[in-house]
Amino acid sequence: MTQPRPVDLVILGGGSGGYAAALRAAELGMTVVMVERDKVGGTCLHRGCIPTKALLHSAETVDVIKEAAQFGVNGSFESVDMAAVNGYKDKVVEGLFKGLTGLVKSRKIEVVRGTGTLVSPTAVEVDGRTIEANHVLLATGSYARSIPGLDVDHQRIVSSDDALSFDRIPASVIILGAGAIGCEFASVWSSFGADVTIVEALPHLVPLEEESSSKLLERAFRKRGIKQELGARFASATVSDTGVTVALEGGKTLEAELLLVAIGRGPVSEGLGYEQIGVEMERGFVKVDAYCQTSVPTVSAVGDLIPTLQLAHVGFAEGILVAERLAGLPVTPVDYDGVPRVTYSHPEVASVGLTSKVATERGYDVVEATYDLAGNGKARILGTAGAVKVVAAKDGPVLGVHMVGERVGELIAEAQLITNWEALPSEVAQLIHPHPTMSEAVGEAHLALAGKPLHSHS
Ligand code: NAI
Repeated sequence: MTQPRPVDLVILGGGSGGYAAALRAAELGMTVVMVERDKVGGTCLHRGCIPTKALLHSAETVDVIKEAAQFGVNGSFESVDMAAVNGYKDKVVEGLFKGLTGLVKSRKIEVVRGTGTLVSPTAVEVDGRTIEANHVLLATGSYARSIPGLDVDHQRIVSSDDALSFDRIPASVIILGAGAIGCEFASVWSSFGADVTIVEALPHLVPLEEESSSKLLERAFRKRGIKQELGARFASATVSDTGVTVALEGGKTLEAELLLVAIGRGPVSEGLGYEQIGVEMERGFVKVDAYCQTSVPTVSAVGDLIPTLQLAHVGFAEGILVAERLAGLPVTPVDYDGVPRVTYSHPEVASVGLTSKVATERGYDVVEATYDLAGNGKARILGTAGAVKVVAAKDGPVLGVHMVGERVGELIAEAQLITNWEALPSEVAQLIHPHPTMSEAVGEAHLALAGKPLHSHS
């Protein structure tokens, strides 16, 4: 069966990148068909951002109860009911899914259920149906990858997909990889009472962050009893009836009930016809220009499938960019340095802009100021430790902001405005922050960098 007339845009994949493009394109008057083999919403809604943050909220609730006595409240922690935790998490996902489905329908976007393949520069095939379009958008996302010789059996050796729907709390877990996924699950399981060990090949947790942020997280995790094997390379894993033994290069062995593999996500691109049609690829990722156009002019690609930051909000931005470009609107490439990044562990790690190392590598004469949350009233009230660090060019604008502490994920939006609008520290120092809030720490770090520290000891 062939579509009588080409639609404006056919999209392969209904995750953050795909559905954002669909919504914006429809808003701009384009006819859109979106092909999705599972559920609209993709990894973020069903297996990523949303369900993990729900688990993290349950975990935070455990911590609040366990730590209540320090705030003068007596109560005792009884247990975590995983069925109820999963029920709450699924209800959040279900509610958002219903809302998104309604939104897609209201914009008259046709959703075709099935696995689509690219069969020409202007056509996609799904279960024998050919959908002709003026433009195709590839947005097939990513999967949790492993390494050769480490087979995820979904019982003892699990991926983040498996970890999301566990009906029990493991007594002990080894987590391979200390990126966002590894650190967030370490945080959840530790709060739930598991004995957690993180194994990371690089010398730090969240190794792409400012080194001082990594060190603060390492200290906080150590205080929480989360063990860390840093600069440790995985050698092998052996499964038994009771658990898994992980050997590290150098001979050390670790044992636990479970091994979570969190060493990154690979692109979903195999067997979908991309290469056959002439779309240039790189290690399985689809190569694009700054406007998310592939080597085939009618084919664009966005989201985890392309080699940019694998974050839902980046997918949204790329999807909107493509829709606007195809509609003929003037567009600006995504500024990847300016994307805010948050690891929602306890405590949180948030950043935007350049680290001091990258800024130096790019030739900036870097100046920096760190404001310790110990001097912040609200942080003391909440009982959280951490810091806000600002990196700036000497006599120039702010280049990056790096934070650790409870709720700092909510502060990064202000830091994003500061960094992306290239504000001078002295300009930010003029802005009055409400007292007592955590946001004052952002103001204080800039006051310090502008040479007029207020509640700073050094
Ligand atoms: P990742 O690439 O961020 O981190 C993987 C870590 O595993 C790296 O630090 C790497 O050095 C380490 N590693 C790799 N091979 C290893 C080995 N053989 N032995 C020991 N360590 C090894 O990947 P992750 O955490 O799996 O996340 C995937 C993607 O999803 C990332 O792009 C991440 O940013 C994104 N994500 C973002 C979240 C957020 O924004 N809060 C939450 C979850 C995922």
